[in-house]
Amino acid sequence: MLEVDALNVSYGEIQVLWDISLKVDQGEIVALIGSNGAGKTTLLKTVAGLLKPTSGSVSYFNERLDKLPPHKIVEKGIALVPEGRGLFPHMTVYENLLMGAYTQRQNSKETLNWVYEIFPILKERASQQASTLSGGEQQMLAIGRSLMSNPKFLMLDEPSQGLGPKVVLKILDTIKQINNRGVTIMLVEQSVPFALELANRVYVIENGKIIYSGRSEEVGSLEDVKKAYLGI
Ligand SMILES: Nc1ncnc2c1ncn2[C@@H]1O[C@H](COP(=O)(O)OP(=O)(O)O)[C@@H](O)[C@H]1O
Ligand SMILES: [Mg+2]
Repeated sequence: MLEVDALNVSYGEIQVLWDISLKVDQGEIVALIGSNGAGKTTLLKTVAGLLKPTSGSVSYFNERLDKLPPHKIVEKGIALVPEGRGLFPHMTVYENLLMGAYTQRQNSKETLNWVYEIFPILKERASQQASTLSGGEQQMLAIGRSLMSNPKFLMLDEPSQGLGPKVVLKILDTIKQINNRGVTIMLVEQSVPFALELANRVYVIENGKIIYSGRSEEVGSLEDVKKAYLGI
């Protein structure tokens, strides 16, 4: 479904991604793990079209994305839930959700109902200001808003960040639920247990390079990888 090939990305003169190649098959949940500053966010932003690579390609169903502007990429069915959530704090839950539907010309009512079904709390809190939600509810709103564009490929940047263990389990559950409804998922996580629990496959990124990839079960059995790269 998604193929990243020999991708190099720089901020000005400073190169942060080096020859990144990866694939995500339709229906999968794939996690990118790696320490702070490894380049995970940069990779998601490049796939979303917010950053342009210096070389290499990003393809979606064999169609090149890397020359397209971000809104065209959203129209193709790709959405990003950004790190830090990027909500509009002074707008209501409902207004935040509508902001996610801006590219969709029809059926936003239907999509809204789908989002409310996945996150009933957002329906209950629809007229409340986003800033008054708890951390977990804000993450749900950020995910719900990205679902309003009806994505087939959803990217999540550190969905568990700053949340307590109970709420993290709830988020994990909803991500599985979204995947079960046919949305392919690529997520970034610093929480390795979270990533391994959720994902079918993982890529480990260090210093802008992929240093390991494998099935989640395999990572669980590879003591060396766990110790050397995952800090567990
Ligand atoms: N806008 C930017 N300008 C310059 N350097 C940046 C910018 N954003 C990130 N970087 C640098 O790129 C590297 C990768 O950052 P990032 O992709 O945010 O890593 P991660 O998400 O894995 O923590 C880091 O060294 C970071 O300091
Ligand atoms: Mg990041």
